[in-house]
Amino acid sequence: MRTRPLKVALLGCGVVGSEVARIMTTHADDLTARIGAPVELAGVAVRRPSKVREGIDPALITTDATALLKRGDIDVVIEVIGGIEPARTLITTAFENGASVVSANKALLAQDGAALHAAAEQHGLDLYYEAAVAGAIPLVRPMRESLAGDKINRVIGIVNGTTNFILDKMDSTGAGYQEALDEATALGYAEADPTADVEGYDAAAKAAILAGIAFHTRVRLDDVYREGMTEVSSADFASAKRMGCTIKLLAILERAADGASVTARVHPAMIPLTHPLASVREAYNAVFVEAEAAGRLMFYGPGAGGSPTASAVLGDLVAVCRNKLAEATGPGESAYTQLPVSAMGEVVTRYHISLDVADKPGVLAQVATTFAEHGVSIDTVRQQGRPDGVGNEASLVVVTHRAPDAALSGTVEALRKLDTVRGVASIMRVEGE
Ligand code: HSE
Repeated sequence: MRTRPLKVALLGCGVVGSEVARIMTTHADDLTARIGAPVELAGVAVRRPSKVREGIDPALITTDATALLKRGDIDVVIEVIGGIEPARTLITTAFENGASVVSANKALLAQDGAALHAAAEQHGLDLYYEAAVAGAIPLVRPMRESLAGDKINRVIGIVNGTTNFILDKMDSTGAGYQEALDEATALGYAEADPTADVEGYDAAAKAAILAGIAFHTRVRLDDVYREGMTEVSSADFASAKRMGCTIKLLAILERAADGASVTARVHPAMIPLTHPLASVREAYNAVFVEAEAAGRLMFYGPGAGGSPTASAVLGDLVAVCRNKLAEATGPGESAYTQLPVSAMGEVVTRYHISLDVADKPGVLAQVATTFAEHGVSIDTVRQQGRPDGVGNEASLVVVTHRAPDAALSGTVEALRKLDTVRGVASIMRVEGE
């Protein structure tokens, strides 16, 4: 057992950072035994030094993160600041000064993962980021290492807890979006500005990271098609129920059937109640992976919060410290397939379209013809008088067979132009069948 401690710099001491520091202190003996050397918290860089941080030696607190990284004895840097800057510059500085990095920063990895991996490799260091996707759930390491000998064809996941909480409330109580969001805010799941969660940006960043790992290619945030879930209504849930489905905000990553390209997308979708993801309740995350040899795997657990995220960070810390002692590095970026990311228009899936139409002879035929003209085949049609009793109007729900997204968009555009179509109430993809 080496007695000289491995020195750790912690960048950020918020909800996650303070938990990391606490567990490093309270579980120091176990961490030492598992790593084979003691780990010492050598400094904690924060923005507000005056804030009281229980259990952290005030002498470790600094506002000068750069000086902490440059002092020359730091072995591992834990970055839990989040956002692009100053995190990007600080991680680069860490590599330049010989420290491996553990990061929970999904936004940065989704945007600049390739450059950060290159910097780690150039300096012979590690970049680990289990906590960046789905909090405590072991997912990055199983995909990068346990499944490294297999071929992943599809990943479909609930990777945002806030939106899953909101959708679950809408489903189970009949609440509208705003009411469910208000409850999520009151319980501390949703932030004061919930945009990153409800508009799908957070999930899209995680989708980009997972897609890159799954398909051994580079997928950047901009490559991920994204739709938020703010438009999902109680009526959509009622329609979903009639189809034996529920609605989830899904990250869906697929290898094309010919293997020549991949797609990455985040949007709300109906999934059958029989799908394992349908039973993921409240703020939990789950990721369903389909691999050629392994078959179907499901990873499930808490996707956010101080303790769960700290668990993932500390797992990475142990791995990186072990690598340091062995004078080795773990897996770096694997992007050798260089598969292009196709546009959303090429994604093939099923659709549930709800239309408000005039209730008179020939309307159904006109609508069906519009679908046919765009090569979209109809699976089922259901018509009913408008629940609000508006005379001579009906609600028409069309569920299609699988069709390219571009064909569906063309269909909807043409439907909107029909005099007999008063409005397109909702369009939702149907997944997981
Ligand atoms: N805001 C995220 C969520 C957690 O609700 O899942 C951090 O990625």
